[in-house]
This record gives sequence, structure tokens and C-alpha cells, in this order.
Amino acid sequence: MPDNLLEAKSLTKNFGGLAAVSEVSFHIAQGEAIGLIGPNGAGKTTMFNLLTGVHQPSSGSIRFRGEDLVGLTPYEITRKGLVRSYQTTRVLQGLSVLENVLTGFHCRTGCGLFSAIFRTPSFRREETASQARAREILDLMELSPWVDEEASEIPQAAQRRLAIATALATRPELLLLDEPAVGMNPQETNEMMDLIKKIQKQGTTILLIEHDMKVIMDICQRIMVLNYGEKIAEGSPAEIQNNQAVIEAYLGSDDYA
Ligand SMILES: Nc1ncnc2c1ncn2[C@@H]1O[C@H](COP(=O)(O)OP(=O)(O)OP(=O)(O)O)[C@@H](O)[C@H]1O
Ligand SMILES: [Mg+2]
Repeated sequence: MPDNLLEAKSLTKNFGGLAAVSEVSFHIAQGEAIGLIGPNGAGKTTMFNLLTGVHQPSSGSIRFRGEDLVGLTPYEITRKGLVRSYQTTRVLQGLSVLENVLTGFHCRTGCGLFSAIFRTPSFRREETASQARAREILDLMELSPWVDEEASEIPQAAQRRLAIATALATRPELLLLDEPAVGMNPQETNEMMDLIKKIQKQGTTILLIEHDMKVIMDICQRIMVLNYGEKIAEGSPAEIQNNQAVIEAYLGSDDYA
């Protein structure tokens, strides 16, 4: 087992003439919670898209548990244990909260989403095996009150937690979270922070994009800062708070507080 769970070297993504991510190298060790910050358009989501196979890098390498990820599909990458939740909520309409989480298991059990929705016999067998674990995850994510509710009808903040619960069902080794608390009120944000800490405590490594500095500083042991696609700083929350390049990058941006 290599020390580094993830190792990215000189990652670059060009969109036409724009370098959305430019020569970025970093590593993530097992068990860490790393923050990825930067002003709007800095390249954070693009970085997630590269790591999860949504976009292919223009150049550079990504190794996860020593294996090369470049060229793999998002599905193959999820199966290897690198899993993301999206910046916008994604729950499956027409399915209950529990069923949403059960669809997360399909990537490990071999049953497709089709089987999950149409409840084929093979899905039912897997479902029994997965039910207990699903309920554990729902409990962890404080979704127990809504287990049998239609997923799209539960409160927005709960839908966000459900999207993460579904990601957890795939048993991620590394969980990528893109602004999990965006648009939430302070209380919901605090609850989300506590949940992310709990997920990390249970052994999942976390890479978190978040605009709320308080959230990032509270959760992450280490922070990377992107600006115009380049990594301009990396360090502990205290180091990043006092880093001149970071302060300048945020001056004049909406995030500066
Ligand atoms: N599919 C794409 N095609 C062309 N340009 C893109 C694409 N995706 C992102 N970009 C551009 O790449 C740059 C980085 O965008 P990205 O979404 O990665 O930023 P971000 O750091 O996630 O920003 P935000 O904080 O607003 O979510 C932006 O200039 C964006 O317009
Ligand atoms: Mg983004």
C-alpha cells in the first residue's frame, strides 16, 4: 500500500485557449481531510472533473493507490473507490430515500441502476444484503426520519445529505465534496460540517471544495489554493490564512471576508 492515496503530477486542463487547471501537483495521504479553495473560476470543479474522469487531462498524471487513473471512465474510477458528490444536488426522483442509497451499492454489487429502479430478482437479493448497511449510512447522515419518503420531497438540506449518503454507499476510499454547504443556513452548515468530520473519523479520506472559510478551516488539516488554474499555496489552515498570495487572490472577490 503506497503512503499516498492520491498523487497528481503536473495536471493541466485546457479549454481552447484557457488553462482551467495548469501544472498542478499534489498528494493526499490516507485519512486526511484536504481543502481545495480559490476564487470563482479558479479551476476547483475542473480539478474534480479530472480526478473523477469526467474530463481527461490535457497533460499530467493521476495515480490512486498507485494505479494510473488517466483514461478510465467515471464509473471505473468510482469502482476503484474515488467518489464525488456534485456541486448541485442530485437525488433520483421517484425513488425513496432508502432506494436512493441502495442505488449507490450497485457500483460494488454489479447490479445496474436499471435493476435498482425496476427491482429485478438479482437486485432484490443484493438489496437484502445492502439494506442493513444502507440504514447505517442513513443513520449516520441523519436521514432516518425520511427513509421511506420520496427523495425529491424531503427538505433541501436533507437532499444534500442524501446525495452524500448515496456516495458513501459506494464505499469510497476518497470522497470528493464540491461545496456541500452552499446555500445552507448557518445551522445546516454546522450540521454538514459535523457530518463531514464523522465521515472522516470513520476512515474516509476527504477532499473538500468549499467557499466558506470557516468550514474549510474547521474541517481540513491541509488546504490547497488554486487561482487562475495554478496552485498558489498549500499548507495548514493557519499558514493559508496568513499567506500573502492567497490574500491577494481573494482581494476583490466575493469570497473575501
Ligand atoms: N467544460 C468547460 N468548457 C469550457 N470552459 C470551462 C469548462 N468547465 C470550466 N470551464 C472554465 O474553466 C475555468 C475554471 O472553472 P471551474 O468550474 O473549474 O471553477 P471553480 O473554481 O469550480 O469555480 P466556482 O467557485 O465558481 O465553482 C472557468 O474559467 C470556467 O469558465
Ligand atoms: Mg466549482
